[in-house]
Amino acid sequence: MSDADPSLAVRGLAYAYPDGHQALFGVDLTVGRGERVALLGPNGAGKTTLVLHLNGILTAGAGTVHVAGLPVAKDNLREIRRRVGIVFQDPDDQLFMPTVREDVAFGPANLGLRGAELEARVQHALAQVGMAGFADRPPHHLSFGQRRRVAVATVLAMEPEILVLDEPSSNLDPASRRELADILRTLDVTVLMVTHDLPYALELCPRALVLAGGVVVADGGTRDLLLDRDLMAAHRLELPYGFDPSSVPA
Ligand SMILES: Nc1ncnc2c1ncn2[C@@H]1O[C@H](COP(=O)(O)OP(=O)(O)OP(=O)(O)O)[C@@H](O)[C@H]1O
Ligand SMILES: [Mg+2]
Repeated sequence: MSDADPSLAVRGLAYAYPDGHQALFGVDLTVGRGERVALLGPNGAGKTTLVLHLNGILTAGAGTVHVAGLPVAKDNLREIRRRVGIVFQDPDDQLFMPTVREDVAFGPANLGLRGAELEARVQHALAQVGMAGFADRPPHHLSFGQRRRVAVATVLAMEPEILVLDEPSSNLDPASRRELADILRTLDVTVLMVTHDLPYALELCPRALVLAGGVVVADGGTRDLLLDRDLMAAHRLELPYGFDPSSVPA
């Protein structure tokens, strides 16, 4: 790997599920170091299927994925999973230990961290998401928004190259949604964010991709894409009533 390699490079990625349903038809995209990019698209477009290829949960039928220059392949999945932090839509898919501390420590402990170094990593990740006081709580006693934050902390504790979030704002109350945005904005990490929340995409991501029918059909400035009525209508993307993308400061 070199600093010149993008955080994420996807080339010609195609995938059919075992039942024969083809979800991806040749996806090409590049995300540079430190970029924050929104991945938009209607239900069934293939967004989650794409995300599952980024750390090798699914493996390509055709095409390649590279993370900071390293190909996603069976013999380097350990390193790929350290580099690619995926926050799943449902935090309950991610939290399974008796305490928040153990959940956040799980990944770094697997990498071999122990003792004070491990505890420091856990505390730092929890502080980043505003959950420093919750280390001893059972995750299942927390609110949904708090569990979402802990799920983000479990991923940050791995110090990933790229943070991938599938619908991070769904089911959050307005204050939690804004607080998560504040957190994401301050992180010094590459972000790929799948979302149906178009104002959130505009607020957080200078660039957006539209995935439709298993291919990338648009790639550009988020505001420009949201202002493109034909593109939006063609791909079932609708702005909330009364929301004007040109009213949001750059
Ligand atoms: N396990 C599976 N087996 C077969 N087909 C699947 C499977 N999972 C998803 N699909 C199909 O693949 C296509 C892409 O699904 P995917 O979940 O990637 O869409 P998405 O863009 O994430 O949608 P959403 O916005 O609803 O989350 C859909 O047509 C879906 O029906
Ligand atoms: Mg999905």
